[in-house]
Amino acid sequence: MEDVPMATAGGPAAQPAPQAVASEEPRTGVVLVTGAAGLVGSHTCRELAGRGWKVRALVRSPTKADRRLAGIAVDLALGDLRSSDTVRAAVDGVDAVVHLAAIAIERRDESYEDVNAAATIALLDASRRAGVRRFVHLSQNGASSASPYRFLRSKGAAQDAVVASELDWTVLRPSVIFGPEDEFVTVLARLVRLSPVVYPLPGGGGARFQPVAVDDVAQVIGIALERADSVRQTYPVGGPVALTLKQMIERVLLAMHAQRVLIPVPVALLHPLIAAAQRVLPHPPVTTSLLELLAVDNTVGDMRVWTTFGLAPAPFAPEELTYLRSITVREAWHSLW
Ligand SMILES: NC(=O)c1ccc[n+]([C@@H]2O[C@H](COP(=O)([O-])OP(=O)(O)OC[C@H]3O[C@@H](n4cnc5c(N)ncnc54)[C@H](OP(=O)(O)O)[C@@H]3O)[C@@H](O)[C@H]2O)c1
Repeated sequence: MEDVPMATAGGPAAQPAPQAVASEEPRTGVVLVTGAAGLVGSHTCRELAGRGWKVRALVRSPTKADRRLAGIAVDLALGDLRSSDTVRAAVDGVDAVVHLAAIAIERRDESYEDVNAAATIALLDASRRAGVRRFVHLSQNGASSASPYRFLRSKGAAQDAVVASELDWTVLRPSVIFGPEDEFVTVLARLVRLSPVVYPLPGGGGARFQPVAVDDVAQVIGIALERADSVRQTYPVGGPVALTLKQMIERVLLAMHAQRVLIPVPVALLHPLIAAAQRVLPHPPVTTSLLELLAVDNTVGDMRVWTTFGLAPAPFAPEELTYLRSITVREAWHSLW
């Protein structure tokens, strides 16, 4: 894997850098955000910059950062967290770390174990060596090092390492996150476009989630970072209500002004189809490892994060999902290749 040097947004980078807004004097210090060009990362950078933090945004792709972080006051750090040089440079001189980088879908040269677990352990170690104390970590509802599912096990191993560290950590464990350019709900919407009459409901659509809006997650991160009483705390983060997959799809259809006949399909039948798609498609929308996670309840009983932080999470309602309307058949098809 190639190491990419640090660059400053707007500076002389080889590829176009985000159009950074001139940073004002920071109120709260320098914070490294990993996974900054991701769904949660871009909203978190905006939230933290708005709160007065000087944000160092670690990204792998300047092009993606250019799109996702445009107009947000960030300094870019370029590189892959699996490189020790990248990690060392990224934590140098920061006051806090917000660790969001992770993968949900493995690619040929990226494993859950390397990216989600080992890179987190390396980042913790580098943070400690650099004298960074504050570390906010985005885990995952259901993450456990004892999970039978590799994805949840890798996220659990990362969480265990954070909790075992001597840093001033906070762990957040969200259920599924929604918002423009999310992965999960966008995939449901693409399937609406690609399947004009019927809509397959894996396992009858009974899997349960508690979707939470990305803006709410970003606010939780910002507040957690600044509250002393969130140090050494673990907060589950779920939206206001638990919904089955079928109920979520019904809301997606309402938001998209679409109608489909919902057909239950056994997961065992979908498994070989998805395995085949995974072999053929460069960007499979779902993988067998994610399909298996439908067996895991992804709801959150503990709502203390909202009461403690004084926030009211947005519902997974059609009015909140209007961003799905811009998904076209063409876009849905191209997303696979
Ligand atoms: N989305 C959800 O529903 C959900 C639910 C619960 C928990 N979470 C957790 O929330 C965090 C953020 O998720 P997200 O939804 O924002 O995911 P995302 O959009 O896929 O963003 C993840 C970011 O991590 C970066 N990344 C991955 N591997 C990396 C590596 N080796 N080195 C450096 N950067 C790397 C990716 O970079 P590229 O852009 O270059 O790929 C991407 O920008 C993750 O820890 C995830 O497990 C997400």
